[in-house]
Amino acid sequence: MSSRVCKCLIAVLLFGLGVSGVANAADRGPCTIATKGATPTAKACAQGGRDAAWKLMKDMVKQAKDKGVKFSCESCHKDVDNFELTKNANADYKKLEAAIAKK
Ligand code: HEC
Repeated sequence: MSSRVCKCLIAVLLFGLGVSGVANAADRGPCTIATKGATPTAKACAQGGRDAAWKLMKDMVKQAKDKGVKFSCESCHKDVDNFELTKNANADYKKLEAAIAKK
């Protein structure tokens, strides 16, 4: 019981650190690109706007990295203010998903 509480606290702490580490987590408003609802990112957008999408994408990039496939936000987004996609972004998104799905 107490160890469970402890794990939970650590998770909250890590979560808090992760969020505050990114441009002090201002409300980034609704998504303007991932609005069609097909990708996990679009689903996060529908639920929590850009903040949620940001967190999800960060997590996806991290999971891919754990599998040895390196992506950075800038490899698919021209900038992380308006998230304008690069030419390769949609194709790479599939690679990103595939990398995560890989066992
Ligand atoms: C492999 C390519 C790729 C990488 C790497 C990537 N993204 Fe994305 N991102 C996309 C694509 C493609 C979309 C649009 C998805 C859709 O249309 O459903 C998107 C959408 C988003 C959106 C929603 C924007 C909007 O207004 O709709 C946010 C926020 C975002 N990404 C943040 C990030 C962050 C932060 C990182 C780095 C941690 C990152 N992305 C890395 C491909 C990528």
